[in-house]
Parts: sequence; C-alpha cells; structure tokens
Amino acid sequence: MRQAILAVNGGKRAVSKLGPYPTKIGAPELRELLDLWEFTPANRRKIEAVLDRQPDLRGPHLFRYYNPRPSKVARAEKRFAKLIGVDYCLAVNSCTSALIAGMRALGIGMGDEVIVPAYTFFATAATVGVCNAIPVIAEVDDTLTLDPKDVERKISPRTRAITVVHMRGVPAQMDKLMAIARRHKLPVIEDVAQAAGGTYRGKKLGSIGAIGCFSFDYYKILNSGEGGFLTTDDEWLYTRAQSWHDCAACWRPDRFAAERRAGELFCGENYRMSELQGAVALAQIRKTAAYLSGYRRSKQRILSRLALPRGVTLQRVPDAEGDTGICLIMFLPNAERTKWAITAMQAEGVPAGGIYDAKIKDWHIYTHWEHVLEMKSVAPDGLPWSGVKLADRPQYRKDMCPQCTDYLSRAIMIDIHWAYSAADCRAIADGINKVLAAT
Ligand SMILES: Cc1ncc(COP(=O)(O)O)c(C=O)c1O
Repeated sequence: MRQAILAVNGGKRAVSKLGPYPTKIGAPELRELLDLWEFTPANRRKIEAVLDRQPDLRGPHLFRYYNPRPSKVARAEKRFAKLIGVDYCLAVNSCTSALIAGMRALGIGMGDEVIVPAYTFFATAATVGVCNAIPVIAEVDDTLTLDPKDVERKISPRTRAITVVHMRGVPAQMDKLMAIARRHKLPVIEDVAQAAGGTYRGKKLGSIGAIGCFSFDYYKILNSGEGGFLTTDDEWLYTRAQSWHDCAACWRPDRFAAERRAGELFCGENYRMSELQGAVALAQIRKTAAYLSGYRRSKQRILSRLALPRGVTLQRVPDAEGDTGICLIMFLPNAERTKWAITAMQAEGVPAGGIYDAKIKDWHIYTHWEHVLEMKSVAPDGLPWSGVKLADRPQYRKDMCPQCTDYLSRAIMIDIHWAYSAADCRAIADGINKVLAAT
C-alpha cells in the first residue's frame, strides 16, 4: 500500500476543518442573567421571544486573557486608571485581594509590621496577617481616620508600611500621614474601599500613596457585586502585583522570558476578575461623576439645614471638597445620649445608625477583632505571630485605642443616598433637628 504524503511534505491535510462549535455559554446563561434584572413581565416575554428565535446564540468568552473580543476587564482598568489619575491599574476580584497583592508587591512578609487604623473593615488588618505580617493597630481621631500622632508613635524598626483607610468616604489626613511616611521611608497603602472617586487637595484618593486598593463589592460607591482594583504609578509594583494576582504566571511583555530583575518570579495566587464583573465595573466607572454629585448634593442639602445644639459636633473632614458624601457623622457628648438619639431618629424615619456598641459585634472596630487580639492562627505553625520574637509581638488589648472607642460610641451616622430628592433631604434634616433639640 502506498504511504500517504504527510501534510508537512505537501500532502492533503487529514483534518480539513474543525468547528465552529456551539459555545458553552449561550442563551440559557443569558436567561439566568436576565433573571437578575427587574423587567416588567411584558418586556421579559419580549426578550424571551427573541432568545427563542436564536436558540444557538453564541455567548461570550468570560476570561479576560486570550479573549477574541476586546476585554471588558482591560477596558475597565484603563478607564479606572484615567479616573484615578495613575499610570497602572490592575483589576482583581476584591479589595481584600488588592490589599494582599499590594503588600506582596511591596515585599511585605513574615516578621514585618503594617500599621492599620482601629476603625476599618477587618479586611484591612486580616490581609496583613495573610501576608504573615503583624497588623499594628493605631488610633483614629475626630476624622474617624488614622490619627497621625499615634501612627508616628506606633512606628518600630519592623514597620514596613502604613495602610491609610479613607473610612466612610472621607479622605484621611494625607498631608500629615505622607510626611510621616516620607520621614520614615515607608510606603503608604491607601485603602480606598469606601471612597472611590474622593479626593484630597485635588488629588484622587488612591493616587497619593504607593498603592491604592479599591472595592467593588455590592455595598460600595461603585460595584460589580464583587471586585476590586489596585492603582499605582510604579511599574515594578504593578508588575509584581499583576504576577501575584495570577499565580505568578507573569503577564509581562514576554510572559516566558527569564527573570528580568530579582523579585520578578515567585509563587502567586489567583485573584483574576472575570469578564462578567469587568462589564458591570466598566458601566459603573462611567457613572462615577453622577453618583458623586448625587451623594455630595444630598449631604450638602442636609448639612445646610442642620441646627446643631451646643455639645453636638460634626465629624472633622480633612478636605470637605474631596469628601464623597456617602455619609454624615456627628458626635454627641456621651454614649448614652447617642443611643437614645439614634432610636429617636430611627423612629422619625431618619436613616441613622450607631457605629460602636461594645456588646454588638461589628467587624469594623478593632475591639471585635478577636482573631488579632487573641493572635489566632490558621495552622499549627502559629503564623503570623510566630514570625516575630516573643518580645517583639504587639501587646493587643481591647482598651488599647480609647480615643477610637470614645468617638465611635458617641457617633451617629446618617446614610446618604445619591438619589435623595430635595424634599427627602429637608425631611431628614428636620428629623435630625427635631431629635437633637430634644436631647
Ligand atoms: C475599608 C475596607 N477595606 C477593605 C474592604 C474589603 O473589600 P472587599 O469586600 O472588596 O474584599 C472593605 C469592604 O467592606 C472595606 O470597607
């Protein structure tokens, strides 16, 4: 029998054509997505009819890399970098991931200390432990963000970074904190989870420190259900964070090149953002200005109508122009009156809440972080605590930041909605005034 000529030698190809095949993701997945939106029954039926006419509808490539179509995640990154005013932006699956990738990019590891505020979501502190480093808890002041004086006191020879949190949408005291960081040659990580789009002295939050970390979880100013972004002007930090976020599978210009510089190759994790989140994040980023002007307008309308009696003060906002306006916080003279006033405001229909009650668990206040206070570990190795000598371990105590618990226990927080009408703001302000006049 004559042997067939191989295709490599000019013979006929054995396989002339493969595909196209149906995509794994198609109409059924789109139906599930549509189910998440609130269509009227009539409109839903019309959409279903369109889908019925195209049962073999080809679906998207939901992986950001090797995408035959322009990646939504990549577009969101570009757009977010422009919004924040930085050279590099990395999309990840959460702010928790952004914080870890950022600290890993900075080389933070076992035995290192990172200063975090006593008032922040636990993720800010937990991620330090995930990096096998030690979270050092510092006071917040009447801005409810890091107290620069206490930050300076908490710096030790093992400090490797300061994580500044722009809590409840309010910019922290960046001039003082950056001056301290510069004096001690420490990088600042900005946790901007709650303050996307805010500014400090004209600079976007997340563009002032070495690294900015943003959350796009459901409760944030911009959200894609879950998601996050890391921002930086430093190409090397970006490269390392990007590697960390994808198993260190390296998305450098030449993925498979030898290490260009020590510290480029290491073992990483997987924090990639999917195209589903990327598409929603992109649409959300485009709405930033509309949301912020809504929040700020609502807050100003309420503020301008408030008549604060003696002894009631507003949270100090380090740069009022840069405040995102997502909430309005005031302090009463004592915790007991505060509790009463919150109940009374809620009875008036005012969206008011307390921030701290020693008896009510809340992961935003260090006194409830028993994982840290009691130095718990995920494994018998005792990390991160075993990574430092016994004498160098922090002395955590529930009463270690009394200034924080004092302010928080006297705080009333009014949630601001970006879509409040002028009448809503008037009613809320009148409700607050009514209760404060009776306290
Ligand atoms: C200040 C702060 N940092 C970090 C995070 C963590 O964000 P994510 O849920 O995206 O991981 C949050 C979320 O609540 C937060 O409020």
